[in-house]
Amino acid sequence: MDPRSPIRSMTQTKEWDTQDLKLLRSRAIRWYRRKARELPWRQTSDPYPIWVSEIMLQQTQVATVIPFFHRFLTSFPTVSALAAADEQDVLFHWSGLGYYRRARQLHAAAKLIDSQWHGLFPRSFESIQSLPGVGRYTAGAIASFAFDDRRPIVEANTQRLYARLLRLRGQLSELRQQSILWKFAEELLPNRGGSGQVNQALMEIGSQVCLPSQPKCEECPLAELCPTFANHEQALIPTPKPPKVYENRVEAAVMVYDAKKGYLMRQCGSKERWAGLWDFPRFDVTHCKTQSELLLSVVDQCLINCSTPIVIERDGFVLKHGVTRYRITLHVFHAGIAGKTKKTLPGLAWHPLPSIKKLPLSSTGVQILKRLT
Ligand code: ADE
Repeated sequence: MDPRSPIRSMTQTKEWDTQDLKLLRSRAIRWYRRKARELPWRQTSDPYPIWVSEIMLQQTQVATVIPFFHRFLTSFPTVSALAAADEQDVLFHWSGLGYYRRARQLHAAAKLIDSQWHGLFPRSFESIQSLPGVGRYTAGAIASFAFDDRRPIVEANTQRLYARLLRLRGQLSELRQQSILWKFAEELLPNRGGSGQVNQALMEIGSQVCLPSQPKCEECPLAELCPTFANHEQALIPTPKPPKVYENRVEAAVMVYDAKKGYLMRQCGSKERWAGLWDFPRFDVTHCKTQSELLLSVVDQCLINCSTPIVIERDGFVLKHGVTRYRITLHVFHAGIAGKTKKTLPGLAWHPLPSIKKLPLSSTGVQILKRLT
């Protein structure tokens, strides 16, 4: 295409030269020094807490992570302490953060570091990236924040910022766009030290200023360099994602109570959602067309799957939540025992309330427990 063509100029991505990149870095850092939030994992260059924070932040907001981060590091202050911990205890400390696979992988990685590197966090980017649960972004974040390695990072916030700084169109999840973003993320890093701070600064601008909708361009230290701002295309870049298709599901959970033994609890199997965590017995009732069908199904499923005959005493409450592609309406019931229970099946146990509080619970298990107490 002719470089002077009006079509090209309408869609052209910005090319950054060395001078512009230098200006971008210095403006970003100056802004960061004045405006960045004081976050606990920014007060250290120890790779262990940085790693823990990055794993926690993968699918969770900063404000939610902070108390969990402090509690986790108080209980497991070193890689070796984490490696030596019982998995149930690690999951218990994760309870409320969700996406427990992250906790399991963190634990597995700590064991690996303990056995393979004598508890010393690996120094090379390749070794860091070889740890379970650590992808290119997380390895880049740890290597640049802790060791000031010249490693690029692209995650949700920097991706949006870089797309706008490049005036990059198209779906950012696609290979071509990803390759452009990672290349830019690398090119913008300084050659002689300071990559960690540049990455932190750009991530902070991405999360605090370059917001998905209504970005605060008037506060942005990079606005003058931003082609998306110049072309008033903030609403078009990044290209909005196609809407996610969700599947509705209806489930029921029962708080089966026995005055002598407490509540019936169930540990989720290894192939199930929330593997290894504890939950109140819970069943799929999407197929039920009426309330009485739903109640019968819960009683039946509790007998079949938990060998426990129950009588539903009263409605509890309804929780709505999402897991992967499912939108779940969860009906929670109070129930009592309706006869002798068969011998307890593996994965099932009776717990009085104080001992439920010490179990690593599924996220809705945590919510149900809150209502109970
Ligand atoms: N999101 C992911 N990593 C982060 C970090 N280090 N600081 C703030 N938000 C983040």
